[in-house]
Amino acid sequence: MPDEPIRTPTWRRALVTGASSGIGRALALRLAAAGTDLVVVARSADRLEQLAAEVDASWPGRRVEVLAADLADRSALARVEQRLASDDEPVDLCVNNAGFGQHGPVAELDVDAQTAMIDVNVVALTRLSTVAARTLRARGHGGILQVSSIAGFVPAAGTAVYNATKAYVTSYTESLHVELRGTGVHVTAVCPGFTRTEFQERAGYDAGGVPAWLWHDPDTVAAVALDAVAANRPVVVPGLANKVMTATVRVLPGAVTRRVAGLFSSR
Ligand SMILES: NC(=O)c1ccc[n+]([C@@H]2O[C@H](COP(=O)([O-])OP(=O)(O)OC[C@H]3O[C@@H](n4cnc5c(N)ncnc54)[C@H](OP(=O)(O)O)[C@@H]3O)[C@@H](O)[C@H]2O)c1
Repeated sequence: MPDEPIRTPTWRRALVTGASSGIGRALALRLAAAGTDLVVVARSADRLEQLAAEVDASWPGRRVEVLAADLADRSALARVEQRLASDDEPVDLCVNNAGFGQHGPVAELDVDAQTAMIDVNVVALTRLSTVAARTLRARGHGGILQVSSIAGFVPAAGTAVYNATKAYVTSYTESLHVELRGTGVHVTAVCPGFTRTEFQERAGYDAGGVPAWLWHDPDTVAAVALDAVAANRPVVVPGLANKVMTATVRVLPGAVTRRVAGLFSSR
């Protein structure tokens, strides 16, 4: 739990998707510590209620609304869109963090599971960003923070759909940042590398061979992300090694990147 003095919050109320674990939970706790009320979204209502109780115990008076929803389900997603658009106890920071990966060759993975990844990582994020852009632009103040990934910068055998969803998120966010410049609405994509959460296990990815120095903890990623959206930076990559890797990929010829990606990817 972040140990920070309470200061005037940058945001009054944040809606955080995927707040039941990992980076989303760390973002929610950091925001609460900084004085921001929360609307927390995920499927696991019990874990969200537990988060709300923790926030209440640490920062009495901080409001936490629990909104249990499966973002792959359009009617559940519509409830989240409605909450985001509401002028009653308005949300001024939309954090699109919920997401998941799936490891395995395209030719062998279940296609419904792959398109469910697109539903959550891309469709839900796009629908919520659209509502946020409309609502916040009209009010002349707010922020949209997307949790993308360094995976979006590189090709990789074994995570084709996941990497494509994150390439979309980063590209979409950069365009939205340009579109909303000067409106008072900040738009930022944070692109983490390996982060110690439930992500790898859920994705069926054996990350045992990843060196310790490449890993980040979710609270560090959350801190970098919140600083970046407060400063309205379009894209931020936490960690020096990740920064060097993504900067290198941007200047290397595609053929070289694909060859190197082939050496490090598992099929
Ligand atoms: N960990 C990494 O190495 C890493 C690196 C780069 C980017 N990221 C990105 O970081 C974001 C957060 O992941 P994490 O690492 O914190 O993993 P995590 O611990 O598995 O958390 C994922 C969160 O997303 C929620 N979620 C997943 N599917 C959902 C659905 N259908 N509807 C609503 N909520 C859903 C989960 O909640 P419920 O299960 O309760 O629904 C959970 O709160 C993701 O977008 C991921 O792609 C992670």
